[in-house]
Amino acid sequence: MIIEVNDLIKRYKDFLAIDHLNLTIGDGELFGLLGPNGAGKTTLVNAILGLTAVDHGTINVFGEALSTSERAIKKQIGLVPQDIAVYPELTAQENVTLFGKLFGLRGEALRKGVADALEFTGLTDIRNKKPSQFSGGMKRRLNIACAIVHKPRLIIMDEPTVGIDPQSRNYILESVKKLNDMHCTVIYISHYMEEVASICTRIAIVDKGRIIAKGTQEELGRLIEDDQVVSVGVTAPDYSIIEKLKRLPAVKDATVDGHTIRIVLSERKLNAVLDTFLEEDLTITKIETNTPTLEDVFLTLTGRALREGAQ
Ligand SMILES: Nc1ncnc2c1ncn2[C@@H]1O[C@H](COP(=O)(O)OP(=O)(O)OP(=O)(O)O)[C@@H](O)[C@H]1O
Ligand SMILES: [Mg+2]
Repeated sequence: MIIEVNDLIKRYKDFLAIDHLNLTIGDGELFGLLGPNGAGKTTLVNAILGLTAVDHGTINVFGEALSTSERAIKKQIGLVPQDIAVYPELTAQENVTLFGKLFGLRGEALRKGVADALEFTGLTDIRNKKPSQFSGGMKRRLNIACAIVHKPRLIIMDEPTVGIDPQSRNYILESVKKLNDMHCTVIYISHYMEEVASICTRIAIVDKGRIIAKGTQEELGRLIEDDQVVSVGVTAPDYSIIEKLKRLPAVKDATVDGHTIRIVLSERKLNAVLDTFLEEDLTITKIETNTPTLEDVFLTLTGRALREGAQ
């Protein structure tokens, strides 16, 4: 096991940020931590990195207790922090070199580590430029280069694709898969279920400091296997229909996104749903049934939407 977290509790004053959390991650996994804002994802990885004191529980990394082998453990981990942490006054190459030195690299190992990290993130051509001249995506890639310069066994990436263009996003997702193919264990944190679904081998859904479900995407989907997801397009959706739908016994959840109402049904009983639309005198423009997504799993387990701003 690369990570074993047992009964972890972390409080910020009276606020319980991590609530009796248990987690194991095996060697070579590309493990996704999926959860909404404030779920406790960053707090959890900070605890794993020994960056935050915990109130209860134990953490083992690479089979060793974090409390006793913190320095040796940290040298084998690369962290891509949620907030970009590079020096704007140093060039890309100087930034990566600095991080390499902090991890104890010297001489040829340092030179090679820096060259490989720049190459891997596609920054070789612009290595002599400063991050102040970089786009958001390039800064993110530099952030990643700094985290992999020492060729760590475990890489933790905390929402590395937030606020960047789709091209950089794809580049980063591909690099994460490539790192994993090179036998690096990866913890990938995100609140975008599409990203986690597309690259991760196993996923834990985090909510309110707890892991509410974990498994492969297939296993998570099976949790709501009997559910049916129906999207109904209407010309003028309003919230009264949502309230009415939610009161139906077969309806687990209903949300509105633009002109589409998405309904999770626990039984395949479309009739009652359609009757409700007719009663409300809404014009239906389309009806689609879908296989449940991770978003639906989250909705069903918590009664809330995963994505910020979603209803
Ligand atoms: N230093 C702190 N002091 C007090 N409360 C904190 C502190 N850090 C985090 N919290 C609270 O703990 C909870 C979990 O925060 P955390 O940053 O771990 O969430 P997250 O899942 O990483 O969210 P996001 O997706 O927004 O990054 C939040 O409610 C947050 O407000
Ligand atoms: Mg976070």
